[in-house]
Amino acid sequence: MAVPQEAPLSILVVGGAGYIGAHMVKSLRCAGFCPVVLDDLSSGHADAVGEAELVVGSMADPVTLESLFLRHRFAAVMHFASFIQVGESVSDPAKYYRNNVAATLALLEAMRRAGVGRFIFSSTAAVYGDPVYSPIDEDHPRNPVNPYGRSKWMIEQVLADYDRAYGLRSVCLRYFNAAGADPDGRLGECHEPETHLIPLVLQAAKGRRDAISVFGCDYDTPDGTCIRDYIHVSDLCDAHLRALHRLLEGGGSACFNLGNGQGFSVREVIEAARRVTGRDIPVCYAARRAGDPPRLVADARRAREVLGWQPRRPDLETIVADAWAWECQYPWY
Ligand code: UFG
Repeated sequence: MAVPQEAPLSILVVGGAGYIGAHMVKSLRCAGFCPVVLDDLSSGHADAVGEAELVVGSMADPVTLESLFLRHRFAAVMHFASFIQVGESVSDPAKYYRNNVAATLALLEAMRRAGVGRFIFSSTAAVYGDPVYSPIDEDHPRNPVNPYGRSKWMIEQVLADYDRAYGLRSVCLRYFNAAGADPDGRLGECHEPETHLIPLVLQAAKGRRDAISVFGCDYDTPDGTCIRDYIHVSDLCDAHLRALHRLLEGGGSACFNLGNGQGFSVREVIEAARRVTGRDIPVCYAARRAGDPPRLVADARRAREVLGWQPRRPDLETIVADAWAWECQYPWY
């Protein structure tokens, strides 16, 4: 006799047509959940959500939210719909506070009205500002140095208050440098404009741009260029799934760093890309980019210990190779 199957739990993925959100939608489906995507497609791609239901709209719009929450009984909400460019957040802070803070509050309000009590929030290493020690653990002082980081830290504090007052359980995941692409090759990083190092280096390898500009080679690091902790997007998604299970099992609110705990300089990333692609990658040296700390490396022991998270694609060459496979198969031109 067939065992009656329980219906898969519905998860609202806000920003599910973007880079990390789309990978998450795929991971949720593979794990037996039913993701529903809300995305305004301001930077996301409709074809990235695959078979999942896509609602095109804004998380700031209470009508869209109300109808979504009426049609679905969500077990949890995941929020990937933030603006992420540090430089732009300095020149246009209103855009960041409007979207990353005010629109997120509208989303939380709709969740409260609908009685949805679990939230997973994409936070960032930018909440720490300029590190006072390294590697950075979750107790490191939060002292963001730009509106982007402040917008994320504001929401983290809102979530702590909402937990105390309303019992909203949340997990804040502080990403270091998200990179790489779906190892199956269906999804990858596709920002417009692109500002992140690895896709830009690979575009230079492909000949889509003349050279990669290295922003500053006079930092106090072994080779003078900035050091970052690159973490594979698939490993980020795995951490989200673990956070989701933790909340579904009744776990309390928490925050976790997500990184590999290993830093690579800009020059080391370019060298890794040369080895992976076998191509010449022209480099030009440029001034420092405002707001770049010299070194950002995660201490992610808490995620390992509490969530049982173990990155499966931690080495830089694998991360670059997956991004290169995506760059090569995508019909750019
Ligand atoms: N870099 C270059 N040339 C480029 C692009 C980047 O040299 O063309 C350098 C940057 O100066 C930095 C490193 O490469 O030293 C990594 O830069 P990314 O732009 O790829 O990533 P960031 O470390 O600046 O940004 C990441 C996230 C952001 C987040 C930030 C928090 O991608 O969303 O960390 O510090 F806000």
